[in-house]
Amino acid sequence: MSAAPVRIGLIGLGTVGQGLVRLLARNRDEYARRLGRPLVITHAAARDRARRRDCDLSGITLVDDPAFIAREAPVDVVVELVGGISPARELLLEAMARGKAVVTANKALLAEDGNRMFAAARDAGVALGFEAAVAGGIPIIRVLREGLAGNRLQAIAGIINGTSNYILSQMTERGMEFSRALAEAQSLGYAEADPRFDVEGIDAAHKLTILATLAFGMPLTYSAVAAEGITRVTARDIELAHELGYRIKPLAIAKRGAGGVELRVHPTLVPHEHLLAKVDGVLNSILVQGDAVGPTGYYGRGAGGDATASAVVSDLLEVAREHGVAAPHRPHALGFDPGAMAPLPLVPREQVQSAHYVRLQVADTPGVLKGITSILAELDISIEAILQKEPRGRDDATLAIITSVIGEQRFAQAMAKLLALPFVRPGSTHLRVEHFDGA
Ligand code: HSE
Repeated sequence: MSAAPVRIGLIGLGTVGQGLVRLLARNRDEYARRLGRPLVITHAAARDRARRRDCDLSGITLVDDPAFIAREAPVDVVVELVGGISPARELLLEAMARGKAVVTANKALLAEDGNRMFAAARDAGVALGFEAAVAGGIPIIRVLREGLAGNRLQAIAGIINGTSNYILSQMTERGMEFSRALAEAQSLGYAEADPRFDVEGIDAAHKLTILATLAFGMPLTYSAVAAEGITRVTARDIELAHELGYRIKPLAIAKRGAGGVELRVHPTLVPHEHLLAKVDGVLNSILVQGDAVGPTGYYGRGAGGDATASAVVSDLLEVAREHGVAAPHRPHALGFDPGAMAPLPLVPREQVQSAHYVRLQVADTPGVLKGITSILAELDISIEAILQKEPRGRDDATLAIITSVIGEQRFAQAMAKLLALPFVRPGSTHLRVEHFDGA
């Protein structure tokens, strides 16, 4: 048993980087005992070396230039925790070309240019670990790639952006304003550097791209995700949804049916009693449906330094176990090459089916309901539930409707007609509804 340490070069000392330094220090002896050799961060690169950090950096050589870690630093594995496409991509490519294994939490890079990154890992014969890229501490990458590999997976539905979930939960429970809840999530270290990635569904779309590739066996296809953020959700919608028996959750959904694959991210009304309706705060949860296993569910902290560090270390341990093993026997290096997989057909967006919640602000005059229901009837859209609220101070009443499951195109036609009605006022809106039949 060799006692030589596995030498780690860390790029990025932000929330997750600091969490990693703390975790490796705290469990140092445990990892060494299990592996027969310690995991040691020998070098770290940070933009601002003088900044105060919530971890002990003694014994780590700090450098300004991340390229030094990728190129010259004598390390076995490079951990990239800076995020963003560039220069993260170039740093990882450089490190791999030099025979260094890499571990990254960078979902944006993998979703948008991952086919190339995994091909580079294959060509270099090195591991590319990415457990931390999706759902922080939940080991969903290994679940899909290994645990459920025997299934033909049919659907994934999950809450995979902690910040959006935190914001909607706070708006629901404390009647908090959107901006205050976002500021809180940022101060807790959950939000992306650019919080638009969280609230506009981009972060979840990146993660869903990775999950779909693992689940269905297809190239990483970020452009296939229809993403919509939570910024349109109002306190009034949360209240009305509650009265109708739903909670509004930020969902990411991937389905594979006879017509192909559909990938979407949007705020969604979920029945109160459904598992996902009960997942609050920054927590993430992912449900996966397979043909053999049936429904399965995963739950845990999806963001934050310590939870994400847990995933990074799981990759480091795997890299360490593979270290010194001939390339053909390393599962990471050769087992995942999404760019080489045959693409699957995608369901055209206008054919995606779902139920809808429609909130209409209407003039308080006779004939309103008749006008609305006849448009829905003409388009063969059935009303599953309807709620009318008297005017609140102003002269417009509120109508909330849950429709039957229909195609996107037909729903868009109905919405355009409803909004054109003379008695429908500005401020009307719609959101999707999922009932998870059979899951
Ligand atoms: N901003 C992300 C989230 C962090 O809120 O889930 C974890 O990827």
